[in-house]
Amino acid sequence: MTLQSQLQQALHKALLSLGIQEEALARISVSAAKDTQFGDYQTNAAMMLAKPLKKKPREFAQEIIDTLVVGDLAEMSIAGPGFLNFTIKPEAFAEHVLSLAKDARCGVTPVARSETFVMDFSSPNVAKPMHVGHIRSTIIGDALSRIATFLGHKVIKDNHIGDWGTQFGMVIWAWKKELNEEALNAEPLQELLRLYRLASMASKEGESIKEECRAELVRLQGGDTENTEIWERAVKLSKVGLQKIYDRLDVSFDHWLGESAYNDSLQSTVEQLLAIGVARESEGAICAFSGGDLPPKKDPFKKSHPETKEWVDFPMIIQKSDGAFNYATTDLATLAYRKKEWNPDHILYVVDHRQSEHFQQLFDIARRSDYPGQLNHVSFGTICGKDGKPLKTRSGDLPQLENVLNEACDAAKLVVAEKSHLEVEEEKAALAENIGLSAVKFTELSHNRMSDYIFDLEKMVSLEGDTAPYLMYSHVRPQSIFRKLEGEFVLPDRISFTEEKEIHLARMLARFGEILPTVLDDYRPNILTSYLLELARAFHSFFEACPVLKSEGIEKQSRLTLCLATAQTIKLGLSLLGISAPEKM
Ligand code: ARG
Repeated sequence: MTLQSQLQQALHKALLSLGIQEEALARISVSAAKDTQFGDYQTNAAMMLAKPLKKKPREFAQEIIDTLVVGDLAEMSIAGPGFLNFTIKPEAFAEHVLSLAKDARCGVTPVARSETFVMDFSSPNVAKPMHVGHIRSTIIGDALSRIATFLGHKVIKDNHIGDWGTQFGMVIWAWKKELNEEALNAEPLQELLRLYRLASMASKEGESIKEECRAELVRLQGGDTENTEIWERAVKLSKVGLQKIYDRLDVSFDHWLGESAYNDSLQSTVEQLLAIGVARESEGAICAFSGGDLPPKKDPFKKSHPETKEWVDFPMIIQKSDGAFNYATTDLATLAYRKKEWNPDHILYVVDHRQSEHFQQLFDIARRSDYPGQLNHVSFGTICGKDGKPLKTRSGDLPQLENVLNEACDAAKLVVAEKSHLEVEEEKAALAENIGLSAVKFTELSHNRMSDYIFDLEKMVSLEGDTAPYLMYSHVRPQSIFRKLEGEFVLPDRISFTEEKEIHLARMLARFGEILPTVLDDYRPNILTSYLLELARAFHSFFEACPVLKSEGIEKQSRLTLCLATAQTIKLGLSLLGISAPEKM
Protein backbone atom coordinates (compact mmCIF):
# COMPACT_ATOMS: atom_id res chain seq x y z
CA MET A 1 0.00 0.00 0.00
CA THR A 2 1.29 3.51 -0.75
CA LEU A 3 2.35 5.76 2.11
CA GLN A 4 -0.35 8.17 1.06
CA SER A 5 -3.11 5.57 1.36
CA GLN A 6 -1.74 4.30 4.65
CA LEU A 7 -1.99 7.83 6.05
CA GLN A 8 -5.37 8.42 4.49
CA GLN A 9 -6.79 5.22 5.93
CA ALA A 10 -5.49 6.09 9.38
CA LEU A 11 -6.92 9.59 9.04
CA HIS A 12 -10.36 8.31 8.02
CA LYS A 13 -10.37 5.91 10.93
CA ALA A 14 -9.52 8.71 13.36
CA LEU A 15 -12.21 10.96 11.90
CA LEU A 16 -14.84 8.24 12.22
CA SER A 17 -14.00 7.80 15.88
CA LEU A 18 -14.25 11.59 16.30
CA GLY A 19 -17.83 11.30 15.11
CA ILE A 20 -17.45 12.39 11.47
CA GLN A 21 -20.01 10.73 9.19
CA GLU A 22 -18.78 8.14 6.71
CA GLU A 23 -20.24 10.14 3.74
CA ALA A 24 -18.13 13.17 4.61
CA LEU A 25 -14.91 11.17 4.28
CA ALA A 26 -15.04 10.95 0.49
CA ARG A 27 -13.90 14.59 0.28
CA ILE A 28 -11.11 14.16 2.79
CA SER A 29 -7.76 13.14 1.45
CA VAL A 30 -4.09 13.17 2.21
CA SER A 31 -1.86 14.52 -0.55
CA ALA A 32 1.83 14.88 -1.21
CA ALA A 33 3.17 18.12 0.28
CA LYS A 34 3.99 20.74 -2.32
CA ASP A 35 6.90 21.97 -0.27
CA THR A 36 8.79 19.27 1.64
CA GLN A 37 9.99 21.82 4.17
CA PHE A 38 6.62 21.26 5.89
CA GLY A 39 6.67 17.50 5.64
CA ASP A 40 5.96 14.81 3.09
CA TYR A 41 2.17 14.70 3.10
CA GLN A 42 -0.57 17.00 4.22
CA THR A 43 -4.31 17.24 4.68
CA ASN A 44 -6.73 20.12 5.09
CA ALA A 45 -9.25 17.83 6.83
CA ALA A 46 -9.41 19.96 9.97
CA MET A 47 -10.15 23.08 7.97
CA MET A 48 -12.87 21.38 5.99
CA LEU A 49 -14.59 19.71 8.93
CA ALA A 50 -14.19 22.13 11.85
CA LYS A 51 -16.85 24.68 10.91
CA PRO A 52 -20.00 22.52 11.11
CA LEU A 53 -18.64 21.16 14.41
CA LYS A 54 -18.33 24.77 15.65
CA LYS A 55 -14.67 24.22 16.43
CA LYS A 56 -11.56 26.16 15.51
CA PRO A 57 -9.61 24.36 12.74
CA ARG A 58 -6.35 24.33 14.70
CA GLU A 59 -8.12 22.92 17.76
CA PHE A 60 -9.78 20.23 15.70
CA ALA A 61 -6.44 19.47 14.06
CA GLN A 62 -4.99 18.83 17.52
CA GLU A 63 -7.88 16.48 18.31
CA ILE A 64 -7.16 14.59 15.10
CA ILE A 65 -3.49 14.29 16.02
CA ASP A 66 -4.40 12.98 19.45
CA THR A 67 -6.66 10.33 17.93
CA LEU A 68 -4.68 9.40 14.83
CA VAL A 69 -2.67 6.21 15.08
CA VAL A 70 0.15 6.21 12.57
CA GLY A 71 2.50 4.03 14.55
CA ASP A 72 6.07 4.38 13.37
CA LEU A 73 5.07 5.87 10.07
CA ALA A 74 5.17 9.63 10.54
CA GLU A 75 5.51 12.65 12.79
CA MET A 76 2.59 15.05 12.75
CA SER A 77 2.41 18.81 13.11
CA ILE A 78 -0.06 21.62 12.62
CA ALA A 79 0.70 24.52 10.35
CA GLY A 80 -0.94 27.77 9.30
CA PRO A 81 -4.71 27.97 9.71
CA GLY A 82 -5.00 24.25 10.49
CA PHE A 83 -3.12 22.16 7.95
CA LEU A 84 -2.00 18.82 9.24
CA ASN A 85 1.47 17.85 8.07
CA PHE A 86 3.00 14.40 8.09
CA THR A 87 6.74 13.87 8.03
CA ILE A 88 7.58 10.28 7.22
CA LYS A 89 10.16 8.87 9.61
CA PRO A 90 13.45 7.77 8.00
CA GLU A 91 12.89 4.21 9.32
CA ALA A 92 9.48 4.10 7.64
CA PHE A 93 10.99 5.28 4.35
CA ALA A 94 13.64 2.59 4.65
CA GLU A 95 11.11 -0.15 5.23
CA HIS A 96 8.98 1.13 2.37
CA VAL A 97 11.87 1.33 -0.11
CA LEU A 98 12.81 -2.22 0.76
CA SER A 99 9.29 -3.38 -0.04
CA LEU A 100 9.37 -1.39 -3.31
CA ALA A 101 12.65 -3.00 -4.32
CA LYS A 102 11.06 -6.42 -3.89
CA ASP A 103 7.93 -5.48 -5.82
CA ALA A 104 7.81 -6.00 -9.58
CA ARG A 105 4.96 -3.44 -9.68
CA CYS A 106 7.13 -0.83 -7.89
CA GLY A 107 4.37 -0.07 -5.42
CA VAL A 108 1.45 0.28 -7.81
CA THR A 109 -1.66 -1.48 -6.48
CA PRO A 110 -4.11 -2.74 -9.12
CA VAL A 111 -7.46 -0.93 -9.10
CA ALA A 112 -10.16 -2.32 -6.85
CA ARG A 113 -12.72 -2.34 -9.67
CA SER A 114 -11.46 -3.19 -13.12
CA GLU A 115 -13.26 -1.29 -15.88
CA THR A 116 -13.42 -1.83 -19.62
CA PHE A 117 -11.82 0.83 -21.82
CA VAL A 118 -12.14 1.00 -25.57
CA MET A 119 -9.20 2.98 -26.92
CA ASP A 120 -9.85 4.50 -30.32
CA PHE A 121 -6.47 5.82 -31.40
CA SER A 122 -4.09 6.26 -34.31
CA SER A 123 -6.94 5.67 -36.81
CA PRO A 124 -5.20 7.09 -39.90
CA ASN A 125 -6.85 7.43 -43.24
CA VAL A 126 -5.92 4.60 -45.51
CA ALA A 127 -4.48 5.32 -48.96
CA LYS A 128 -2.66 8.27 -47.50
CA PRO A 129 0.43 7.57 -45.39
CA MET A 130 0.18 8.37 -41.72
CA HIS A 131 1.34 11.90 -41.32
CA VAL A 132 2.93 13.52 -38.35
CA GLY A 133 -0.47 14.57 -36.97
CA HIS A 134 -1.25 10.90 -36.39
CA ILE A 135 1.89 10.62 -34.33
CA ARG A 136 0.23 12.25 -31.35
CA SER A 137 -2.80 10.01 -31.42
CA THR A 138 -0.72 6.86 -31.86
CA ILE A 139 1.73 7.65 -29.09
CA ILE A 140 -0.74 9.07 -26.56
CA GLY A 141 -3.24 6.26 -27.21
CA ASP A 142 -0.58 3.61 -26.85
CA ALA A 143 0.74 5.04 -23.57
CA LEU A 144 -2.75 5.39 -22.07
CA SER A 145 -3.52 1.81 -23.11
CA ARG A 146 -0.38 0.53 -21.44
CA ILE A 147 -1.06 2.47 -18.26
CA ALA A 148 -4.73 1.44 -18.01
CA THR A 149 -3.79 -2.20 -18.60
CA PHE A 150 -1.08 -2.08 -15.97
CA LEU A 151 -3.49 -0.56 -13.46
CA GLY A 152 -5.69 -3.61 -13.95
CA HIS A 153 -8.30 -2.41 -16.42
CA LYS A 154 -9.52 -4.32 -19.43
CA VAL A 155 -8.36 -2.46 -22.52
CA ILE A 156 -9.61 -2.99 -26.07
CA LYS A 157 -7.48 -1.19 -28.64
CA ASP A 158 -9.34 -0.43 -31.84
CA ASN A 159 -7.74 1.18 -34.88
CA HIS A 160 -10.69 2.95 -36.50
CA ILE A 161 -8.95 3.52 -39.82
CA GLY A 162 -10.51 5.71 -42.49
CA ASP A 163 -10.83 3.02 -45.12
CA TRP A 164 -13.91 4.35 -46.89
CA GLY A 165 -14.85 7.64 -48.45
CA THR A 166 -13.93 10.31 -50.96
CA GLN A 167 -10.22 9.60 -51.15
CA PHE A 168 -10.97 6.22 -52.74
CA GLY A 169 -12.76 7.83 -55.69
CA MET A 170 -9.50 9.62 -56.39
CA VAL A 171 -7.21 6.68 -55.79
CA ILE A 172 -9.30 4.40 -58.03
CA TRP A 173 -9.37 7.01 -60.78
CA ALA A 174 -5.58 7.35 -60.77
CA TRP A 175 -5.04 3.61 -60.23
CA LYS A 176 -6.84 2.82 -63.48
CA LYS A 177 -4.64 5.27 -65.39
CA GLU A 178 -1.24 5.35 -63.73
CA LEU A 179 -0.68 2.42 -61.41
CA ASN A 180 2.92 1.24 -61.09
CA GLU A 181 2.57 -2.39 -59.94
CA GLU A 182 6.18 -2.75 -58.97
CA ALA A 183 6.16 0.36 -56.82
CA LEU A 184 2.91 -0.73 -55.24
CA ASN A 185 4.41 -3.98 -54.06
CA ALA A 186 7.64 -2.45 -52.88
CA GLU A 187 6.36 0.69 -51.13
CA PRO A 188 2.55 0.46 -51.00
CA LEU A 189 1.95 3.59 -48.94
CA GLN A 190 4.18 5.71 -51.16
CA GLU A 191 2.58 4.48 -54.36
CA LEU A 192 -0.93 5.01 -53.03
CA LEU A 193 0.04 8.50 -51.94
CA ARG A 194 1.43 9.19 -55.39
CA LEU A 195 -1.87 8.09 -56.95
CA TYR A 196 -3.87 10.14 -54.49
CA ARG A 197 -1.80 13.24 -55.14
CA LEU A 198 -2.06 12.75 -58.87
CA ALA A 199 -5.84 12.65 -58.74
CA SER A 200 -6.03 15.47 -56.28
CA MET A 201 -3.87 17.70 -58.51
CA ALA A 202 -5.80 16.74 -61.63
CA SER A 203 -9.13 17.45 -59.89
CA LYS A 204 -7.99 20.93 -59.08
CA GLU A 205 -7.44 21.61 -62.75
CA GLY A 206 -10.88 20.75 -64.00
CA GLU A 207 -14.43 19.99 -62.92
CA SER A 208 -14.58 17.05 -65.33
CA ILE A 209 -11.88 15.06 -63.51
CA LYS A 210 -13.47 15.81 -60.18
CA GLU A 211 -16.66 14.39 -61.66
CA GLU A 212 -14.83 11.28 -62.89
CA CYS A 213 -13.41 10.67 -59.42
CA ARG A 214 -16.82 11.08 -57.86
CA ALA A 215 -18.24 8.61 -60.38
CA GLU A 216 -15.58 6.06 -59.35
CA LEU A 217 -16.64 6.52 -55.74
CA VAL A 218 -20.32 6.03 -56.58
CA ARG A 219 -19.40 2.85 -58.45
CA LEU A 220 -17.45 1.60 -55.45
CA GLN A 221 -20.31 2.37 -53.10
CA GLY A 222 -22.70 0.63 -55.48
CA GLY A 223 -20.65 -2.57 -55.23
CA ASP A 224 -19.00 -2.48 -58.69
CA THR A 225 -16.69 -5.52 -58.91
CA GLU A 226 -13.62 -3.89 -60.44
CA ASN A 227 -13.66 -0.93 -58.05
CA THR A 228 -14.28 -3.17 -55.07
CA GLU A 229 -11.26 -5.24 -56.02
CA ILE A 230 -9.05 -2.16 -56.33
CA TRP A 231 -10.34 -0.86 -53.00
CA GLU A 232 -9.70 -4.18 -51.30
CA ARG A 233 -6.15 -4.35 -52.59
CA ALA A 234 -5.45 -0.76 -51.68
CA VAL A 235 -6.71 -1.27 -48.13
CA LYS A 236 -4.86 -4.51 -47.68
CA LEU A 237 -1.56 -3.07 -48.89
CA SER A 238 -2.03 0.04 -46.79
CA LYS A 239 -2.48 -2.10 -43.73
CA VAL A 240 0.78 -3.89 -44.48
CA GLY A 241 2.53 -0.53 -44.75
CA LEU A 242 0.95 0.76 -41.56
CA GLN A 243 1.80 -2.41 -39.69
CA LYS A 244 5.48 -1.88 -40.51
CA ILE A 245 5.38 1.50 -38.77
CA TYR A 246 3.45 0.12 -35.79
CA ASP A 247 5.98 -2.70 -35.43
CA ARG A 248 8.80 -0.22 -35.44
CA LEU A 249 7.02 1.83 -32.78
CA ASP A 250 6.02 -1.29 -30.82
CA VAL A 251 2.36 -0.33 -31.01
CA SER A 252 -0.35 -2.96 -31.39
CA PHE A 253 -4.12 -3.19 -31.71
CA ASP A 254 -6.72 -5.78 -30.80
CA HIS A 255 -8.94 -4.73 -33.71
CA TRP A 256 -8.75 -2.80 -36.92
CA LEU A 257 -12.43 -2.09 -37.31
CA GLY A 258 -12.23 0.67 -39.88
CA GLU A 259 -15.04 2.82 -41.18
CA SER A 260 -15.96 0.28 -43.86
CA ALA A 261 -16.78 -2.32 -41.19
CA TYR A 262 -19.97 -0.38 -40.47
CA ASN A 263 -21.27 0.07 -44.02
CA ASP A 264 -24.12 -2.38 -43.50
CA SER A 265 -25.41 -0.74 -40.36
CA LEU A 266 -25.47 2.89 -41.48
CA GLN A 267 -29.04 2.78 -42.84
CA SER A 268 -30.44 1.29 -39.65
CA THR A 269 -28.45 3.75 -37.53
CA VAL A 270 -30.18 6.64 -39.29
CA GLU A 271 -33.58 4.95 -38.98
CA GLN A 272 -33.15 4.47 -35.25
CA LEU A 273 -32.25 8.10 -34.69
CA LEU A 274 -35.29 9.11 -36.71
CA ALA A 275 -37.42 6.77 -34.63
CA ILE A 276 -36.33 8.21 -31.27
CA GLY A 277 -36.71 11.77 -32.53
CA VAL A 278 -33.06 12.74 -32.31
CA ALA A 279 -32.89 13.20 -36.10
CA ARG A 280 -35.27 14.57 -38.70
CA GLU A 281 -35.38 15.57 -42.34
CA SER A 282 -34.10 19.01 -43.19
CA GLU A 283 -33.66 20.41 -46.70
CA GLY A 284 -33.52 16.92 -48.17
CA ALA A 285 -30.84 15.68 -45.77
CA ILE A 286 -31.29 13.88 -42.47
CA CYS A 287 -29.82 15.70 -39.52
CA ALA A 288 -29.58 15.37 -35.76
CA PHE A 289 -30.78 18.45 -33.90
CA SER A 290 -30.67 19.80 -30.37
CA GLY A 291 -32.48 17.87 -27.67
CA GLY A 292 -33.59 21.21 -26.23
CA ASP A 293 -32.77 20.19 -22.68
CA LEU A 294 -29.46 22.01 -22.32
CA PRO A 295 -28.72 25.71 -21.99
CA PRO A 296 -27.67 26.89 -25.48
CA LYS A 297 -24.14 27.62 -24.29
CA LYS A 298 -23.68 23.97 -23.39
CA ASP A 299 -25.67 22.60 -26.33
CA PRO A 300 -23.39 21.33 -29.12
CA PHE A 301 -26.31 21.64 -31.55
CA LYS A 302 -26.58 25.40 -31.05
CA LYS A 303 -24.25 28.12 -32.22
CA SER A 304 -24.28 31.82 -31.73
CA HIS A 305 -24.90 33.57 -35.05
CA PRO A 306 -21.81 35.60 -35.96
CA GLU A 307 -23.81 38.77 -36.68
CA THR A 308 -27.09 38.70 -34.79
CA LYS A 309 -25.51 36.75 -31.87
CA GLU A 310 -28.76 34.81 -31.62
CA TRP A 311 -28.61 31.08 -30.92
CA VAL A 312 -29.20 29.15 -34.13
CA ASP A 313 -29.37 25.45 -34.93
CA PHE A 314 -26.07 23.71 -35.64
CA PRO A 315 -27.22 20.29 -36.80
CA MET A 316 -25.13 17.21 -37.51
CA ILE A 317 -25.76 15.76 -40.97
CA ILE A 318 -26.07 12.00 -40.80
CA GLN A 319 -27.36 11.35 -44.31
CA LYS A 320 -26.75 13.75 -47.16
CA SER A 321 -29.50 14.68 -49.61
CA ASP A 322 -27.97 12.34 -52.24
CA GLY A 323 -28.42 9.45 -49.80
CA ALA A 324 -24.74 9.18 -48.86
CA PHE A 325 -23.68 8.55 -45.28
CA ASN A 326 -20.67 10.24 -43.70
CA TYR A 327 -18.08 10.24 -40.95
CA ALA A 328 -20.73 11.08 -38.34
CA THR A 329 -23.04 8.23 -39.36
CA THR A 330 -20.12 5.83 -39.14
CA ASP A 331 -19.18 7.03 -35.67
CA LEU A 332 -22.76 6.58 -34.50
CA ALA A 333 -22.87 3.04 -35.88
CA THR A 334 -19.47 2.33 -34.33
CA LEU A 335 -20.71 3.47 -30.95
CA ALA A 336 -23.69 1.11 -31.13
CA TYR A 337 -21.42 -1.74 -32.15
CA ARG A 338 -19.00 -1.14 -29.30
CA LYS A 339 -21.79 -0.99 -26.80
CA LYS A 340 -23.32 -4.25 -28.00
CA GLU A 341 -20.03 -6.08 -28.40
CA TRP A 342 -17.98 -4.86 -25.42
CA ASN A 343 -20.30 -2.82 -23.20
CA PRO A 344 -17.37 -0.61 -22.18
CA ASP A 345 -17.30 1.69 -19.14
CA HIS A 346 -15.23 4.17 -21.13
CA ILE A 347 -14.46 4.93 -24.73
CA LEU A 348 -11.50 7.21 -25.35
CA TYR A 349 -11.25 8.91 -28.72
CA VAL A 350 -7.66 10.07 -29.03
CA VAL A 351 -8.14 12.57 -31.83
CA ASP A 352 -6.95 16.04 -32.87
CA HIS A 353 -8.69 19.00 -31.16
CA ARG A 354 -10.08 20.19 -34.50
CA GLN A 355 -12.67 17.41 -34.28
CA SER A 356 -14.02 18.52 -30.92
CA GLU A 357 -17.37 19.76 -32.25
CA HIS A 358 -17.94 16.43 -33.92
CA PHE A 359 -17.32 14.55 -30.70
CA GLN A 360 -19.40 16.89 -28.58
CA GLN A 361 -22.34 16.23 -30.88
CA LEU A 362 -21.68 12.50 -30.94
CA PHE A 363 -21.54 12.34 -27.15
CA ASP A 364 -24.71 14.38 -26.80
CA ILE A 365 -26.57 11.97 -29.08
CA ALA A 366 -25.24 9.12 -26.97
CA ARG A 367 -26.51 10.80 -23.82
CA ARG A 368 -29.95 11.27 -25.35
CA SER A 369 -30.02 7.62 -26.45
CA ASP A 370 -29.28 6.51 -22.87
CA TYR A 371 -25.80 5.30 -23.68
CA PRO A 372 -24.49 4.22 -20.25
CA GLY A 373 -20.68 4.41 -20.56
CA GLN A 374 -18.43 7.46 -20.37
CA LEU A 375 -17.23 8.91 -23.63
CA ASN A 376 -14.12 11.03 -23.72
CA HIS A 377 -12.46 13.03 -26.44
CA VAL A 378 -8.80 12.88 -25.48
CA SER A 379 -7.85 15.75 -27.72
CA PHE A 380 -4.51 17.32 -28.49
CA GLY A 381 -2.91 20.31 -30.19
CA THR A 382 -0.57 20.69 -33.13
CA ILE A 383 3.09 19.81 -33.64
CA CYS A 384 4.94 22.91 -34.84
CA GLY A 385 8.24 23.50 -36.60
CA LYS A 386 10.93 25.78 -35.18
CA ASP A 387 9.12 28.74 -36.75
CA GLY A 388 6.16 28.05 -34.46
CA LYS A 389 3.88 27.18 -37.37
CA PRO A 390 2.42 23.68 -38.01
CA LEU A 391 5.21 21.34 -39.02
CA LYS A 392 5.57 21.11 -42.83
CA THR A 393 8.08 19.71 -45.28
CA ARG A 394 9.98 21.99 -47.64
CA SER A 395 7.40 21.34 -50.34
CA GLY A 396 4.67 22.47 -47.97
CA ASP A 397 3.15 19.02 -47.33
CA LEU A 398 2.53 17.53 -43.92
CA PRO A 399 5.60 15.46 -43.10
CA GLN A 400 5.11 11.73 -43.19
CA LEU A 401 5.49 9.85 -39.97
CA GLU A 402 8.06 7.46 -41.33
CA ASN A 403 10.34 10.29 -42.47
CA VAL A 404 10.04 11.97 -39.10
CA LEU A 405 11.09 8.76 -37.37
CA ASN A 406 14.02 8.33 -39.74
CA GLU A 407 15.22 11.85 -39.11
CA ALA A 408 15.00 11.37 -35.35
CA CYS A 409 17.05 8.18 -35.61
CA ASP A 410 19.64 9.96 -37.76
CA ALA A 411 19.97 12.70 -35.16
CA ALA A 412 20.33 10.00 -32.49
CA LYS A 413 23.13 8.36 -34.47
CA LEU A 414 25.23 11.51 -34.09
CA VAL A 415 24.71 11.56 -30.35
CA VAL A 416 25.56 7.85 -30.07
CA ALA A 417 28.70 8.28 -32.18
CA GLU A 418 29.86 11.06 -29.91
CA LYS A 419 28.79 9.89 -26.47
CA SER A 420 28.17 6.15 -26.35
CA HIS A 421 30.49 3.72 -24.58
CA LEU A 422 29.27 0.84 -26.72
CA GLU A 423 31.83 -0.76 -29.00
CA VAL A 424 29.93 -3.23 -31.20
CA GLU A 425 28.53 -1.50 -34.31
CA GLU A 426 25.21 -3.39 -34.23
CA GLU A 427 24.67 -2.41 -30.62
CA LYS A 428 25.34 1.21 -31.47
CA ALA A 429 22.88 1.09 -34.37
CA ALA A 430 20.21 -0.49 -32.16
CA LEU A 431 20.79 2.14 -29.49
CA ALA A 432 20.46 4.97 -32.03
CA GLU A 433 17.20 3.52 -33.32
CA ASN A 434 15.93 3.16 -29.75
CA ILE A 435 16.95 6.71 -28.81
CA GLY A 436 15.41 8.17 -31.96
CA LEU A 437 12.02 6.49 -31.50
CA SER A 438 12.00 7.06 -27.75
CA ALA A 439 12.84 10.71 -28.20
CA VAL A 440 9.85 11.18 -30.51
CA LYS A 441 7.60 9.36 -28.04
CA PHE A 442 8.89 11.10 -24.95
CA THR A 443 8.72 14.57 -26.47
CA GLU A 444 5.14 13.88 -27.42
CA LEU A 445 4.13 12.52 -24.03
CA SER A 446 5.96 15.09 -21.94
CA HIS A 447 3.90 17.98 -23.23
CA ASN A 448 0.50 18.82 -21.92
CA ARG A 449 -1.50 17.23 -24.70
CA MET A 450 -3.63 20.31 -25.28
CA SER A 451 -0.70 22.55 -26.04
CA ASP A 452 1.08 22.81 -29.36
CA TYR A 453 4.75 21.99 -29.20
CA ILE A 454 7.84 22.66 -31.21
CA PHE A 455 9.51 19.71 -32.82
CA ASP A 456 13.23 20.21 -32.24
CA LEU A 457 15.21 17.10 -33.13
CA GLU A 458 18.56 18.11 -31.65
CA LYS A 459 16.96 18.95 -28.33
CA MET A 460 14.90 15.74 -28.25
CA VAL A 461 17.84 13.37 -28.67
CA SER A 462 20.21 15.23 -26.37
CA LEU A 463 21.48 13.53 -23.24
CA GLU A 464 20.99 16.73 -21.31
CA GLY A 465 17.65 18.27 -20.50
CA ASP A 466 14.23 16.77 -19.97
CA THR A 467 14.64 14.11 -22.63
CA ALA A 468 14.23 10.40 -23.25
CA PRO A 469 18.00 9.76 -23.44
CA TYR A 470 18.45 11.50 -20.07
CA LEU A 471 15.96 9.08 -18.53
CA MET A 472 17.50 6.13 -20.30
CA TYR A 473 20.84 7.13 -18.86
CA SER A 474 19.17 7.42 -15.44
CA HIS A 475 18.36 3.75 -15.78
CA VAL A 476 21.80 2.75 -17.04
CA ARG A 477 23.67 4.59 -14.29
CA PRO A 478 22.20 2.75 -11.27
CA GLN A 479 22.24 -0.51 -13.25
CA SER A 480 25.93 -0.24 -14.00
CA ILE A 481 26.72 -0.27 -10.27
CA PHE A 482 25.56 -3.87 -10.06
CA ARG A 483 27.98 -4.94 -12.77
CA LYS A 484 30.87 -3.58 -10.72
CA LEU A 485 29.79 -5.56 -7.68
CA GLU A 486 31.49 -8.78 -6.77
CA GLY A 487 28.82 -11.44 -6.75
CA GLU A 488 25.11 -10.91 -7.05
CA PHE A 489 23.26 -8.32 -5.03
CA VAL A 490 20.83 -9.89 -2.59
CA LEU A 491 18.35 -7.56 -0.95
CA PRO A 492 19.17 -7.18 2.75
CA ASP A 493 16.61 -7.67 5.56
CA ARG A 494 17.04 -4.17 6.87
CA ILE A 495 18.22 -0.85 5.49
CA SER A 496 18.47 2.65 6.92
CA PHE A 497 18.85 6.20 5.66
CA THR A 498 20.69 9.09 7.26
CA GLU A 499 21.43 11.52 4.42
CA GLU A 500 18.88 14.03 3.17
CA LYS A 501 19.60 12.98 -0.46
CA GLU A 502 18.82 9.36 0.40
CA ILE A 503 15.58 10.38 2.02
CA HIS A 504 14.59 12.57 -0.88
CA LEU A 505 15.16 9.72 -3.33
CA ALA A 506 13.10 7.42 -1.08
CA ARG A 507 10.34 10.04 -1.02
CA MET A 508 10.29 10.17 -4.81
CA LEU A 509 10.30 6.37 -5.15
CA ALA A 510 7.32 6.14 -2.82
CA ARG A 511 5.34 8.50 -5.02
CA PHE A 512 5.29 6.29 -8.10
CA GLY A 513 2.38 4.21 -6.83
CA GLU A 514 0.56 7.42 -5.91
CA ILE A 515 0.90 9.35 -9.14
CA LEU A 516 0.43 6.57 -11.69
CA PRO A 517 -3.34 6.12 -11.14
CA THR A 518 -3.84 9.88 -11.49
CA VAL A 519 -2.68 9.75 -15.12
CA LEU A 520 -6.13 8.39 -15.94
CA ASP A 521 -7.99 11.17 -14.10
CA ASP A 522 -7.70 13.42 -17.09
CA TYR A 523 -5.75 11.18 -19.43
CA ARG A 524 -2.46 13.02 -19.09
CA PRO A 525 0.69 10.97 -19.64
CA ASN A 526 2.76 14.09 -18.91
CA ILE A 527 2.05 13.47 -15.22
CA LEU A 528 4.16 10.32 -15.53
CA THR A 529 6.91 11.96 -17.61
CA SER A 530 7.27 14.83 -15.11
CA TYR A 531 7.41 12.35 -12.27
CA LEU A 532 10.12 10.27 -13.94
CA LEU A 533 12.25 13.35 -14.61
CA GLU A 534 11.92 14.39 -10.99
CA LEU A 535 12.83 10.90 -9.83
CA ALA A 536 15.86 10.89 -12.13
CA ARG A 537 17.04 14.22 -10.76
CA ALA A 538 16.63 12.92 -7.20
CA PHE A 539 18.69 9.90 -8.16
CA HIS A 540 21.55 11.83 -9.73
CA SER A 541 21.88 14.20 -6.81
CA PHE A 542 21.83 11.26 -4.40
CA PHE A 543 24.44 9.48 -6.50
CA GLU A 544 26.72 12.47 -6.59
CA ALA A 545 26.48 13.10 -2.85
CA CYS A 546 26.46 9.56 -1.50
CA PRO A 547 29.18 7.10 -2.55
CA VAL A 548 27.71 3.67 -3.13
CA LEU A 549 30.52 1.24 -3.90
CA LYS A 550 32.91 2.94 -1.51
CA SER A 551 30.50 2.83 1.40
CA GLU A 552 30.25 -0.14 3.74
CA GLY A 553 27.92 -2.29 5.77
CA ILE A 554 24.29 -1.28 6.09
CA GLU A 555 25.00 2.05 4.41
CA LYS A 556 26.19 0.28 1.27
CA GLN A 557 23.29 -2.16 1.38
CA SER A 558 20.84 0.71 1.75
CA ARG A 559 22.31 2.68 -1.13
CA LEU A 560 22.38 -0.36 -3.38
CA THR A 561 18.73 -0.93 -2.55
CA LEU A 562 17.99 2.66 -3.59
CA CYS A 563 19.85 2.09 -6.87
CA LEU A 564 17.89 -1.08 -7.52
CA ALA A 565 14.51 0.46 -6.75
CA THR A 566 15.34 3.50 -8.90
CA ALA A 567 16.40 1.42 -11.89
CA GLN A 568 13.27 -0.72 -11.57
CA THR A 569 10.94 2.24 -11.30
CA ILE A 570 12.46 4.12 -14.22
CA LYS A 571 12.40 1.00 -16.36
CA LEU A 572 8.77 0.29 -15.54
CA GLY A 573 7.76 3.93 -15.93
CA LEU A 574 9.41 4.16 -19.33
CA SER A 575 7.85 0.89 -20.46
CA LEU A 576 4.43 2.34 -19.64
CA LEU A 577 5.25 5.15 -22.06
CA GLY A 578 6.22 2.61 -24.71
CA ILE A 579 9.94 3.22 -24.24
CA SER A 580 12.42 0.45 -23.66
CA ALA A 581 15.23 1.28 -21.26
CA PRO A 582 18.63 -0.01 -22.42
CA GLU A 583 21.00 -1.79 -20.03
CA LYS A 584 24.05 -0.02 -21.43
CA MET A 585 24.59 3.04 -23.55
N1 ARG B 1 -9.56 8.85 -39.46
C1 ARG B 1 -9.77 10.03 -38.68
C2 ARG B 1 -8.72 11.07 -39.06
O1 ARG B 1 -7.62 10.75 -39.46
C3 ARG B 1 -9.71 9.77 -37.19
C4 ARG B 1 -10.71 8.80 -36.66
C5 ARG B 1 -10.87 8.91 -35.18
N2 ARG B 1 -11.83 7.99 -34.61
C6 ARG B 1 -13.16 8.11 -34.71
N3 ARG B 1 -13.89 7.17 -34.15
N4 ARG B 1 -13.71 9.11 -35.31
O2 ARG B 1 -8.98 12.25 -38.92
